[in-house]
Amino acid sequence: MSQSRHGLYTPEGGPADPVFRIGLAPIPVEHWFEGGEQDPAARKDALLASVPHLVWGETEGSRLAQSEVAGMVADWLGRPPPSNDPPLWTASRAVADDLCLMENRGGEWTLTAASLCAPSFFSAAASVGQPLSGLHAPVPGFNEGLLHRVARIFDHLPPDQVVERRNWTVVNSPDLHQPDPAPYRARLAAQSLEQIAAGLHVRRERQTLRRAPRTGAVLFTIRIWTERLDDLLSEPDRRAGFATAWERLMMDEGAPFRTYKRLDLYDGAVRARLASFPA
Ligand code: HEM
Repeated sequence: MSQSRHGLYTPEGGPADPVFRIGLAPIPVEHWFEGGEQDPAARKDALLASVPHLVWGETEGSRLAQSEVAGMVADWLGRPPPSNDPPLWTASRAVADDLCLMENRGGEWTLTAASLCAPSFFSAAASVGQPLSGLHAPVPGFNEGLLHRVARIFDHLPPDQVVERRNWTVVNSPDLHQPDPAPYRARLAAQSLEQIAAGLHVRRERQTLRRAPRTGAVLFTIRIWTERLDDLLSEPDRRAGFATAWERLMMDEGAPFRTYKRLDLYDGAVRARLASFPA
């Protein structure tokens, strides 16, 4: 992915107001996956060997839709459909993205299978089998404000339309696989402000949705990009955009967003880093 496309991601290139939003936009099918990783299978196989329950899960009855979406991924890549089971896991080895299969079960869009090797504080064990409402229970206001609209998007997404959304956060590690925030946050107690600042990373998440026409399932893809905060701040334009976004987050309007993402943990370190650059 080119840096210019990367630069479109919030914080420094996105909407200034820090609120939870649907933020889906149509993209051409040629842009479904961004690529950019040499050997995703090696990374994913190692995780499957060490923490299988965290990175893979499937529910009974999901194999038909798994096969359909695996075929769509293979078609897009110009490869033969996977011959090994489970199909969704096999498909996920060919792309950098995590692959989440959503099916309508009893009127609720439900995560029926998932390959989740770069989770931002969730896991296959805790999420497979959950409906949209359960998956988003920790997100402030989601079930009251967004759930109904998101479910309608799943109901009506046309098969030939890929849609994309992005979000971002700041974390203290470049690890892609972060199923649980606890060990990362525990480190902070023993670190100086300088040490915390040096370890900060902007974690950007790009998601897409695409319908499988035969089964009606929807494939939700998640691609994580991480970048050292220092690298972002070393570019004056991006630094200015980031500083503005951070200020907005720390104002009253950003409270739900920053509390949910625990960004208060890093405010002192981020400010110290921003202050170390010329205004
Ligand atoms: C149109 C589709 C969706 C929308 C608009 C949406 C929206 C959101 C929003 C606003 C958040 C809070 C963080 C952020 O700003 O992104 C979030 C978090 C999350 N979403 Fe979604 N989401 C969608 C689909 C899904 C799907 C299909 C899954 C299934 C895996 C999912 C799983 C999660 C999880 C696990 C979290 C983190 C919750 C936590 O903090 O534990 N989302 N989503």
